[in-house]
Amino acid sequence: MNKLQDSALLKTSSFINGGWHSNESTFNVSNPATGAIVARVSNAYITETQLAVESAKSAFAAWSAKSANERATLLRKWFDLILENQDDLARILTLEQGKPLAEAKGEIGYGASFIDWFADEGKRIFGDTIPGPSSDKRIVVIKQPIGVVAAITPWNFPAAMIARKAAAALGAGCTFVVRPATQTPLSALAMAELSQRAGIPPGVFNVVVGEDARGMGKVLTQHPDVAKFTFTGSTAVGKTLIAQCASTVKKVSMELGGNAPFIVFDDADIDAAVKGALASKYRNAGQTCVCTNRILVQENIASQFTQKFVEAVANLTVGNGTDDGIDIGPMISAQACHDVNKLVNDSIAAGATAVLGGTYDDRGENFYQMTVLTNVTNDMPIAQNEIFGPVSPIITFKDEAEAIAMANDTIYGLAAYFYTRDIGRVWRVAEKLEFGMVGINEGIISNVAAPFGGVKQSGSGREGSKYGLDDYMEIKYLCIGGLDN
Ligand code: SIN
Repeated sequence: MNKLQDSALLKTSSFINGGWHSNESTFNVSNPATGAIVARVSNAYITETQLAVESAKSAFAAWSAKSANERATLLRKWFDLILENQDDLARILTLEQGKPLAEAKGEIGYGASFIDWFADEGKRIFGDTIPGPSSDKRIVVIKQPIGVVAAITPWNFPAAMIARKAAAALGAGCTFVVRPATQTPLSALAMAELSQRAGIPPGVFNVVVGEDARGMGKVLTQHPDVAKFTFTGSTAVGKTLIAQCASTVKKVSMELGGNAPFIVFDDADIDAAVKGALASKYRNAGQTCVCTNRILVQENIASQFTQKFVEAVANLTVGNGTDDGIDIGPMISAQACHDVNKLVNDSIAAGATAVLGGTYDDRGENFYQMTVLTNVTNDMPIAQNEIFGPVSPIITFKDEAEAIAMANDTIYGLAAYFYTRDIGRVWRVAEKLEFGMVGINEGIISNVAAPFGGVKQSGSGREGSKYGLDDYMEIKYLCIGGLDN
C-alpha cells in the first residue's frame, strides 16, 4: 500500500452518514496472491447496519427532492474523482482481489462508466399521459425513486458491482447502503471516501463492512425502512435473501449464478472463436458470472478448435497481479481452488481428459492451473455446475438442434455465446437460447449501455442501460377527474 499516490484512499472502517465508524474488533484483508495482510478492517455489526439504514432514510427526503441536474453534477464529480484516482484504486483492488493491475484498472473505468451514465439517465425519467376512460378524466403516470436501497455485493468485482447498483440508485433519487464482501471491502471504502470528496451528502451513500454476514444481511433484507434490495452473488445465497425480503415485500433485483455455453458452429471463424472463448473464459481467472462455463464445439471442427484453444490457453501468463505482464492472477482463496479441483476430479473420474492443467498450481495455495478438459459430456459435474475458475470443459455436438438443447439444459440463464457466419442461424439460435444476454461472434458483452441480467435461476432485474433505472423507481398513476366544465 505504500505505493499509493494518495494514502488517504485506504480506509479501514465503515462509512455511515458521512463519517467513519470503527470499533475494536477487526478482520484481516489479505492479498490472495501472497497471503500478506493488506489491511486490518474494523468490524461493523447489526447496530452499525441499522444506523446506516436510518441515515439513508433521513437523507432520502433531501436527496430525492434535488433536481436531476443537481444530482448529476454531484455524480459527475464522483466519476471524475474515480478516474483521477484510477491507478490507486486499481492497486487497492488488485491487492485485495488478485486480478492483474491492467484488468483492475479496466474494472475501475467500467465501474465509473455507470456513474457517468446514470448521472445523465436520471435526467430522462419520463412519465406518460394516457387518454382517460371518459371525457372528464386524464391519466398521468409519473415515476418516483423507491426509497432506501440496500445492496450486498461480491468479491469478484469489488468496485464495479457497487458502482453499477449505486449509480442507478443515486441517479434515480434513492439513497444507498451496501455491504461489500469481507474479502474485498477496501475498494468500496475508497469509493466512499471519493463520494465524500465529491460532495455527495451524508447518508446518501453508506458502506458497512463486517464479518457478521447473517446479522447484517437480515437488517438489509428485513428492515422496514429498506424499500429495495439488490444482490450480486450465488443463486443459493440469492434464494435465501429473496425469502428474507418477503417479510416486508421488498422490491428485489438479483444478479445470480451462470453457466454460460460458448457454442462454436462449423461455419465459424475459428480463430475469432478461440480469441472470444479465451477472453470470456479466463477474464478474472474464470471468476465472473458471465464467464464461459462450457465450450460446445461442432464435432467436425472439434480437434482443430481444441488444438488452437489449448495453445492459446497455454500461452497465458499466470502470477501475482501486481507484477508486470501478468494475464491471470490467483483465485480468491484456497477453498475456491479446492472446489474447482473437486469438479475437475469428479469429471475425470466420469471420463473427461485433462489435455492442459488439471490440478493445483505450484505458485501458491490460491493458484489453479489453466485447465482444458476434453471428452466432457453435458451431464458431468463440470458442465452442470458454475465452475468459477480457470477450467474449460469442451463438449462436442452434432447439429444446431443438439447444441441448443445442450446449451439450455441448465437451471441458469445469465449469458450465452455462439460463433457462426450464417445470418439465418444467428437469428434462430439467438431467439432459442434461454439466457438474458447473448454474445454473437463476441466473447465480451458487458458494457454500460447494455442491459445486464439473467433469466431462470440466474436472477431478475437489469443493471446498466436505459432499463437500469426501472429497478429503483416506482410507477405512480394519477387519475385527474372533474375536468368537464
Ligand atoms: C459478474 O460477474 O457478476 C459481473 C461481470 C460483468 O459485469 O461483466
